[in-house]
Amino acid sequence: NNAGTLAAAVGLAANSWGQGERPDPLNRHKHGLVGTSISRIDGPLKVQGKATFAAEFLMEGLTYASLVFSTIAKGRIATLDASAAEAAPGVVLVMTYKDAPLMKPMPLFMTAEKAAGGDNLPIMQDDQIHWNGQPIALILAETQEQADYASSLIHATFEAEPSVTDFEDAKRQGTKTGEFGGGPLKLDIGDAEAALNQAAVSIDAEYSTPRHSHNAIEPHAATVVWDGDSLVVHDASQAVVHTAWSLSSVFGIDEGQVHVTSPYVGGGFGSKTLWQHQVLGAAASKLSGRPVRITLSREGVYRMVGGRSQTEQRVALGADQDGHLKAIIHTGVVAMSRQNALPEPFILATRGAYAAESFKLHVEVAQLDMLANTFMRAPGEAVGTFGLECAMDELADKLGIDPVELRILNEPDKHPTEGKPFSSRNIVEAWRTGAQRFGWAKRSAKPAAIRDGDWLIGMGCATGTYPYYRMPGGAARITLTREGHARVEIAAHEMGMGTATAHVQVTADRLGLTADQVTFSYGDSKMPGAVLAGGSQQTASIGAAIVAAQHALVTQLLILAGNSSPLAGLKPEEVGGLNGGLAELANPGRHESYASILGRAGRDEVAVQQDAPPPLELQNWSMHSYGAMFCEARVNAITGETRISRFLGSFDCGRILNAKTAASQFRGGIIMGLGLALMEETQFDSRNGRIMNPSLADYHVPAHMDVPEIDVIWNDIPDPHTPMGAHGIGEIGITGTAAAVANAVFNATGKRVRELPLTLDKLM
Ligand code: MOS
Repeated sequence: NNAGTLAAAVGLAANSWGQGERPDPLNRHKHGLVGTSISRIDGPLKVQGKATFAAEFLMEGLTYASLVFSTIAKGRIATLDASAAEAAPGVVLVMTYKDAPLMKPMPLFMTAEKAAGGDNLPIMQDDQIHWNGQPIALILAETQEQADYASSLIHATFEAEPSVTDFEDAKRQGTKTGEFGGGPLKLDIGDAEAALNQAAVSIDAEYSTPRHSHNAIEPHAATVVWDGDSLVVHDASQAVVHTAWSLSSVFGIDEGQVHVTSPYVGGGFGSKTLWQHQVLGAAASKLSGRPVRITLSREGVYRMVGGRSQTEQRVALGADQDGHLKAIIHTGVVAMSRQNALPEPFILATRGAYAAESFKLHVEVAQLDMLANTFMRAPGEAVGTFGLECAMDELADKLGIDPVELRILNEPDKHPTEGKPFSSRNIVEAWRTGAQRFGWAKRSAKPAAIRDGDWLIGMGCATGTYPYYRMPGGAARITLTREGHARVEIAAHEMGMGTATAHVQVTADRLGLTADQVTFSYGDSKMPGAVLAGGSQQTASIGAAIVAAQHALVTQLLILAGNSSPLAGLKPEEVGGLNGGLAELANPGRHESYASILGRAGRDEVAVQQDAPPPLELQNWSMHSYGAMFCEARVNAITGETRISRFLGSFDCGRILNAKTAASQFRGGIIMGLGLALMEETQFDSRNGRIMNPSLADYHVPAHMDVPEIDVIWNDIPDPHTPMGAHGIGEIGITGTAAAVANAVFNATGKRVRELPLTLDKLM
């Protein structure tokens, strides 16, 4: 691509990426804003309290909602006495199944293109109870305090039916194969059990991970109002278009009659989709004729918003004497409810991790009567890499091979179970650079060999990985003014990860503008596109749409430029953005400013809207982000207390668009991984299905004292087959991290803990 190379040499952004298989000329564009450390443009508003979150929209006549939850797992509401609540001060409405409006169940996430529902149960339509914590009454009052007080006056009794709330009971009742992404979570290549039996060296172990609850800093909330038959929802959302469509289905109105906005979100991690609270808020607003603010308490999030399923995993690896893998077995059981679509797919990373001759990868599902579980940062990979990467460490120890070298030894040259070529896989380089920087050579191969007073010190490592996705549905509108300001509109999301900032950079480079000449507007279901902030794919999805819209913009501008322009006669493919205008890629001296083009055409602005091309790149290539994770742990020999003293993530994630926001994404993922490793655990009473620790006092996440200096580096090698050369980076940080911790603890102590969280009792 000569034009691309030349354009890159002069810092010019070409506009020709469009079909999935075509390389993006921006890949070689090393100048401009992409890759630089621009601080979050939403940052100043947030620290000044000027960013309006879902629970901060003010409205005339606003009412406040409080919820009452069931205390049994299965059965029916026998009596429900709301008289005291109705008589309490400030109460506007008490809504129960007896008077809630007729509503259809939510379309269950992943079962239709724009489905966003966390479950597909009836919502307050009958007396049936499906999980312990299901909302049974909603109180609206003039203040939040009045609503909360009135909710304490609701008296309900229940008739319980036999329920399954114990994982062992559920397994005894029979499991079925999990399904994910339209296919069974079951993959067999060769006879892995036979290969394992014949292997010169093998390990075969059971690993387990507990339930996890979502704890985004901003609890779920929505401010809801009806305008006639049209519904407006100011939500905390990572799926505004999906939520609007799903709510229209629930209330039997047109998609265009629901308007969902979500300008700021205090973290999503997979949880900020559609749950029953938005539906109940809209129903109560309909009944009362008043706007409703519904904010879940922290306990409310635990009761109503699903989390990550528990898993029990068997990992068995067979290798020859030299460490080459012959068999990879990764099987096990996860817990799931009947009303959800996500069996924690813990085998996903194992499918592409290492070269081997035989594979046996199965996820079985045991069904419980409980809250639907859902997506949580790297669903599958976060906990699946714990099993796989601990097993690799155990195998390395048994073989007497360095764990980094064992991984490099088993590096595949194509995707080991799909056979596709890798679009861009430079994990070996990430391992080498990371090992060097971390000082891996100082690790003792013998466990429990290094001691500092009462503290045993060890190092561990693990591979992190997360797929590159790009979902269909991307679209963008660009409006360019004669003054040379571009506004991009796309129904995307800023949950704190730096989306708006990164795409200002991408757009500015594409159009040849400065960052302050670009506005990125998002978080509104009326904007173009149906883009999900999930699967670490939003950036690729937006980027592809921006590239396509810029192409349409250039086409329009060349028409407007006409025959008296210095650009006359050039095709859109031959032109890119430079210095506030368009220039010929091969001859950037041939240039006309946007002001000149629009001025001569007598136009104040030009607007284009374009869909992103379909994600064809995924058909041709195996595409993933990778990380080499290194941990140093200190374990107190007397108390068993584990302290992480150092952590390094060395990433191979394509081109990095913004060094600062990327580093924060990597660190945030790693911190969540430290919580997964050491403390996070939803305590679930197996007698009655009640979550027992629904608060941040009882459910532990890492606090500042738990988080060491985290070093993150990346090789910044662009993928030639993705928009901007980028891969996703939102989820990979949590993958591999728990295994790196557990492997470091083993190296420190000689104790192998295979059950998370790795609390001190397990080390005594
Ligand atoms: Mo993520 S769990 O795809 O928001």
